[in-house]
Amino acid sequence: MKKVLLAATLASSVYAAPAVTFNKDVAPILYKNCVVCHHPNDIAPMSLLTYKEARPWAAAIRQAVVTRTMPPWHADPNVGHYLNDPRLSNDEIATIEAWVKAGSPEGDPKDLPPAPVFKDGWHIKPDVVLTIPETTVAAANQDDYEYIYVPTNFTEDKWVQAAEVVPGDRRVVHHATVSVVAAKDVPKLENPNAHAEEDQFHFRTGKVNHLKMDAPVSDDGCVASNDPRVKDWSGGYLNYVPAIYLPGHLAETRPPGYALKIPAGSYLQFQVHYSNRLGETVKDRTSIGLVFAKEPVEHEVAQYEIWNNWFLIPPGDGNHKVTSCYTLPKDVEAVAYTAHMHFRGKSMQTEAIYPDGRHELLFSVPKYDFRWQETYFLKQHFILPKGTKLITTAYFDNSANNPLNPDPSKAIRWGEPSNEEMMGFWLAFADVDTTKQSAQAARHPER
Ligand code: HEC
Repeated sequence: MKKVLLAATLASSVYAAPAVTFNKDVAPILYKNCVVCHHPNDIAPMSLLTYKEARPWAAAIRQAVVTRTMPPWHADPNVGHYLNDPRLSNDEIATIEAWVKAGSPEGDPKDLPPAPVFKDGWHIKPDVVLTIPETTVAAANQDDYEYIYVPTNFTEDKWVQAAEVVPGDRRVVHHATVSVVAAKDVPKLENPNAHAEEDQFHFRTGKVNHLKMDAPVSDDGCVASNDPRVKDWSGGYLNYVPAIYLPGHLAETRPPGYALKIPAGSYLQFQVHYSNRLGETVKDRTSIGLVFAKEPVEHEVAQYEIWNNWFLIPPGDGNHKVTSCYTLPKDVEAVAYTAHMHFRGKSMQTEAIYPDGRHELLFSVPKYDFRWQETYFLKQHFILPKGTKLITTAYFDNSANNPLNPDPSKAIRWGEPSNEEMMGFWLAFADVDTTKQSAQAARHPER
């Protein structure tokens, strides 16, 4: 850091100290941490690939990195260490500051490293791309969950190392979850009513489900009310999700040796949440790209999706607490975490209570932002033994002070549209080969 500041101070002096330039010092940082989103036709509003494109943004870039609003990252860095943590080091921030202070010079073209190349919207290099048939998203379609089934035609089991969902039309694809389903289940799932919640507590409008306002309430998933009509107060659902598209979510790359299995002959279910506010009908073809494991796979990855679906957030409440509780049915190795709420989500934390009574804070998103829903891949995996209780605590801001709040005057219950709420913590995990490692040996202080 010292060196860089010194260079900046001396840049304009008679001593020809090497100035901090775009080509030599700044471009490598932007290429590594920023251009994944900041290139033409991606999610960011401007490209930062070239000097010409970046120069007008110099002051804004400085501001964004000094305040650490860019690159976006929402997990508390003091709780857990993550493989995909994109945050800049203090030295990198100092370099950008020095560059802007020196008048944002371009520097010698010979110093410029080759720019990363992005192709057809992908941030990975897929071995296979599977795309839904062209789907009409009507102008009137403001909130629909469509379920679309695409055969993989895989004749052997495939192991997915990395995957990414790329929306056909970003303007209307609100989210897309791609799950693996067996071919034999597809006819049943294709029934138009297959995804309707069927009990007395839910209702459906168009193609989305909601919980009724007068359904039983349990904000604390650990102390569920004992209303016998509710089967699952706080549940963990097993799911096999190669990739998901959520706001601000990048490609998912699992560490070497870890992969998700797509059995031969499987279908992929694309659950696409369309929300068309364009006032015109458009067509969408959303795709998933898959990168197959090139090395032997030792660990199959799956996911527990842990929810509280029975909360009630009162109107105007700026700090409403909701918890979920799930006791692991077997030993698992923790691989990644995702926090999922909608516009009123404010923060989320997950704590483990181990069978020996020890408590450990695993994950914390102190300032949840609906626009940035990352999956956080753990640097160091560790064992969560059978019987570990995972307690997730979320806070919601349903007050008028929340600028994203669609309507502070409403009481809010679970619902699929984004202007209602969800409370989910997803744990990506691998099964534990108990013959190879003991739970104790796999624990590691740095993760
Ligand atoms: C994961 C994608 C992503 C990454 C990585 C990313 N950005 Fe952004 N950036 C965005 C999006 C989307 C916006 C517009 C929405 C917003 O401002 O939240 C944005 C906005 C900005 C803005 C405009 C803020 C303003 O004043 O309007 C600046 C400057 C910026 N980014 C700089 C950077 C820099 C510098 C990096 C790397 C150090 C970076 N971004 C990394 C997605 C990204």
